[in-house]
Amino acid sequence: MDLWQLLLTLALAGSSDAFSGRETTAAILSRVSQSLLSVNPGLKTNSSKKPKFTKCRSPELETFSCHWTDAVHHGLKNPGPIQLFYTRRNAQEGTQEWKECPDYVSAGENSCYFNSSFTSIWIPYCIKLTSNGGTVDEKCFSVNQIVQPDPPIALNWTLLNISLTGVHADIQVRWEAPPNADIQKGWMVLEYELQYKEVNETQWKMMDPILSTSVPLYSLRVDKEYEVRVRSKQRKSENYGEFSEVLYVKLPQMSQFTCEEDFYFPWLLIIIFGISGLTVMLFVFLFSKQQRKEN
Ligand SMILES: *[C@@H]1O[C@H](CO)[C@@H](O)[C@H](O)[C@H]1NC(C)=O
Ligand SMILES: *[C@@H]1O[C@H](CO)[C@@H](O)[C@H](O)[C@H]1NC(C)=O
Ligand SMILES: *[C@@H]1O[C@H](CO)[C@@H](O)[C@H](O)[C@H]1NC(C)=O
Ligand SMILES: *[C@@H]1O[C@H](CO)[C@@H](O)[C@H](O)[C@H]1NC(C)=O
Ligand SMILES: *[C@@H]1O[C@H](CO)[C@@H](O)[C@H](O)[C@H]1NC(C)=O
Repeated sequence: MDLWQLLLTLALAGSSDAFSGRETTAAILSRVSQSLLSVNPGLKTNSSKKPKFTKCRSPELETFSCHWTDAVHHGLKNPGPIQLFYTRRNAQEGTQEWKECPDYVSAGENSCYFNSSFTSIWIPYCIKLTSNGGTVDEKCFSVNQIVQPDPPIALNWTLLNISLTGVHADIQVRWEAPPNADIQKGWMVLEYELQYKEVNETQWKMMDPILSTSVPLYSLRVDKEYEVRVRSKQRKSENYGEFSEVLYVKLPQMSQFTCEEDFYFPWLLIIIFGISGLTVMLFVFLFSKQQRKEN
């Protein structure tokens, strides 16, 4: 039931009041109030959606930013500006002083950016969103818990090997750490997860996380095209960052057997073994003949 229906019912209730007694009015009013109850939850969830934190992320363990949802307000009341306050829980000081967000601009709309001057790694933060002086959302974390590195870059691959039959190939995939991650001095230790699939497949195959920035991929089919992507996370953390750009791998078709099925392989073996077997038999035959001659 929507509002218009409700108002109509109310109007009818009012007009019917002129004719009927109190009992009828009471009955109608109770029906109306029930309708109001059933309309109200919808109104609440729809027209006064409060802003909420969506994500806090540190790409390199030196700065971080937090984002929140827009306030949805179809109603008459202006919710007022949304403000973010933060406090660092300092064990020594023991006090909690709330300060306002240092930078609402740099990380985009509905966000707060903490540059390196405002970022301490080992001290837990609490942040809260306020609207009209009231807190609408609050969360606590330490910066090392919200690390999500930028994507790895410069993906490339080299050919390692093509199978005897020319059907399968092994390649080595390489990439570089996200440029803003300080891995040289060990400030960050990144683990990488490589995923790959045939171009036409929908499911990515996942490899186990590794610390190095290159990994071999074995037994790819030379007649297929592959897609490879890599993402990284701070070691021992749960949260991966975004995936790198996709690397397309199209293998060179070098062998004359290319595109033929694997059954070439046993045939090749049978022919090779057959020829060598015949040769051995021939030698044995000639050798024994010679021996007989000498005797
Ligand atoms: C309002 O809520 C109803 C039901 O809960 C939903 O179907 C509708 O999409 C919502 N409208 C908006 C604008 O959120
Ligand atoms: C961080 O931001 C503050 C205020 O915007 C500025 O004074 C300070 O220089 C910045 N620090 C760094 C390292 O950029
Ligand atoms: C990948 O490496 C090859 C040579 O090894 C180079 O020519 C090519 O530009 C590289 N591709 C990218 C995207 O860096
Ligand atoms: C090429 O593949 C063959 C068989 O799979 C293997 O024995 C050989 O070691 C590989 N060579 C290289 C350089 O990877
Ligand atoms: C992917 O599938 C389409 C048809 O569905 C085909 O034309 C195309 O060659 C396939 N691409 C690869 C790389 O297998």
